Formats: sequence, C-alpha cells, structure tokens
Amino acid sequence: MIKTNFNVEIDEKRIAQILAEIEKDKMGGWMKLPRQYDMGEFVKIKEVAKKINEDSEYLVCIGIGGSYLGHRAIIEALRPKSETKIIYAGNSLSRKELEGALEEVGDADFSINVISKSGTTLEPAIAFEAFKKKLFEKYGEAAKNRIYATTDAKSGALHDEAVENGYIRFVVPDDIGGRYSVLTAVGLLPMAVAGVDIDKLLEGAAEASGSAVKPATEYATMRYNLGIKDYDTEVFASFEPATMYFNEWLKQLFGESEGKNKQGIFPASVIYSTDLHSMGQFMQDGRRNLFETIIDYPTDEINTKVVQAVKIAHMQGGIPVLTITPSSYDEKGFGELVYFFELSCAISAKLFGVNPFDQPGVEAYKNELKRLMGEK
Ligand code: PA5
Repeated sequence: MIKTNFNVEIDEKRIAQILAEIEKDKMGGWMKLPRQYDMGEFVKIKEVAKKINEDSEYLVCIGIGGSYLGHRAIIEALRPKSETKIIYAGNSLSRKELEGALEEVGDADFSINVISKSGTTLEPAIAFEAFKKKLFEKYGEAAKNRIYATTDAKSGALHDEAVENGYIRFVVPDDIGGRYSVLTAVGLLPMAVAGVDIDKLLEGAAEASGSAVKPATEYATMRYNLGIKDYDTEVFASFEPATMYFNEWLKQLFGESEGKNKQGIFPASVIYSTDLHSMGQFMQDGRRNLFETIIDYPTDEINTKVVQAVKIAHMQGGIPVLTITPSSYDEKGFGELVYFFELSCAISAKLFGVNPFDQPGVEAYKNELKRLMGEK
C-alpha cells in the first residue's frame, strides 16, 4: 500500500464529483483496467513474449511519448533478466540515434514492436521504415512474422498496414490515451519480453485501484493547494538512479495532462544523491517557487539516511516536501505507483479545471510538422 507523509483536508463533495466524472469519461478506461483486463489478450501477450524470447536477441520497441516512456520506465527500474534485449527507436528524429540502434542490432536475430495509437506519428514512422527494411533484407517475406503492431483497433495507417500484411496486432483501447496506457499491451508486451512479471504488476495496480484512492486524493489536493499559492514547479526526486525514466514518465503524465489553458504545475526531475551536488544548491536555497515530491523507494539503509537528511535540510530551506512510499521495489510496487500517479494526475488536472485526457498542444506541433513536411 502506498504511504505518504501528509494529511490534508479534502473537499469531499468536489472529489466525489471528480471521481464520478473520470469514471464516466470516454478516456477513463485505465481506471478499471487492472481489475477488468481482457484475459484473452493477456494470454496472447505472454505467448508472443515467449516466441520473441525464443527467436530474437533483440526486440526493437518503436514508439514515442505515451507509446514508449511507461514501459521503458519499469524495465529500466527493475532490470529483469531476459533472453531478449530491448532497444528503443523512434523516440526522436536524430539520425545518430537511429543509426546507433541499427548498428547495435547488427546481424543478430530481432523482432519489431511498433507502437502508435494514431499510427501516424512521424518519429516512430521513420524508425519503423528503417528497421522494416533491415528485417526484410534479413528474413525476406518471413519478416512479417517478426513485426508486432500495437495500435488502434479499427483505423490508422499502421492498423491498415498491419491488416494488409498480417502482422500480429495488439490494441490500444479507444478509451485509454497514450500516457495512461502503460498497463495495456502498449507496455505489457515489451515488459513481458524484458522479463517483467506482468501478473504481479497488474496485481499491484488492482490493489491500488482500491487502496490508493485516499492517498491519491490527498496528494492531488496538496498539489492544487500549493499550485494556487504560486508554487508553480514540482520537482520529482528519487534516490535510485534506475528510476530516472520513471521520473520522465511522471513529467509526461503531469505535463501533458495538466499544462493547458495557462494552468498546471511544471514537472521537473532530480536523481539524488548525484543531483544533490548540482541541483541540490537550488533546491536548498534558490527561488522558492517549487515543492519537492520524493518517491521514497524502499532501498538500503545508507540511502534511507540520505533521504532523511535531504528532507530535513530542504524543509529547513523552506521547501514543502511531499513523500510517497510504495510498498516494495518490485513489480507490485511499480503497479501501485503507476495507478496511484495516474489517478492523482487526473484528479489534480480536474481541480485545476482542465481536461486530463487531451493534448491539444502536442497535436498542434504534430500538425505543424506534417504541414511543413508536405503530409508525406
Ligand atoms: O500521451 C499521449 O497521448 C502522447 O504522448 C502520445 O502517446 C504520443 O504523442 C505518441 O502518439 P501515438 O501513439 O499516436 O504515436
């Protein structure tokens, strides 16, 4: 069970109304997901993961934003053992990165998991073309049996290509947006291939769907209360370097859900104790417009002492410090955290009066880029 270090008075009526709104929202499907998972698809994910482990040294996961960050966060944090190494592509437009990934795979056996809900995002589309070429050069027509497409159930360029070529398909449900999709096939397939115990992950999330409602409500209320007092920056702090990508997912979740209509709290990230020797100065003594949210992963004793020292020093420096502690540093703990933060974020965005589930700013950039590229 998630523990926190704060108690705050809740506006019970407003929160009940918000929870009902989220549940009814056409993009609120992630809320029930851990308890009502499509077991047919879950079994298919495990079977495909086994096949990939048997026939591939590499799985190239192609996707960006919500189609990428969540599973990378959990895989990097848990560093599970697997026959297959996961590498990532299509999360930037850097030629260097793409060439590096192609080179890393080299002559090894590999498969591709291309992930895009819309099926039209430029960064993954370019990387997919490059890896598809390599795959067909190596395996000929049999390459089609090594492409796994995670996309919309009914439409989009990737959906159409997958149907036409008979790639194995997984669905990004209509009622779940990118950054809330970690516990769908978007995240579960790469995680299962990487050796993450996806049963335990969903178990943690399912438990949190009951037990995390109170702490999530309190955390969202704390953020809102601080936000309206001009604390405009939240710094997510972790003392475990392997969780750097989890902080990146948090930045996406909160930034993309909350930053609209000139509202929201700017999410930033630090990894201690490394950053205590750089950003630590600003945290202790810089401009007081920020608060710190420490994700206090249960780790070893020496780290525990640093956490205590930092909390005391930063509170003395005038920073509000919120602490969130998952029950364990394993699949169950990360399942809890994913659910807890998704719920907190949706409630918090609603308190700020914005829609947690759209991303008009991201679409604006995508459309402008398509226009400049002539829709190719
Ligand atoms: O959370 C979101 O909606 C975004 O970050 C998307 O996941 C990201 O833009 C990628 O979109 P798509 O999956 O359609 O390629």
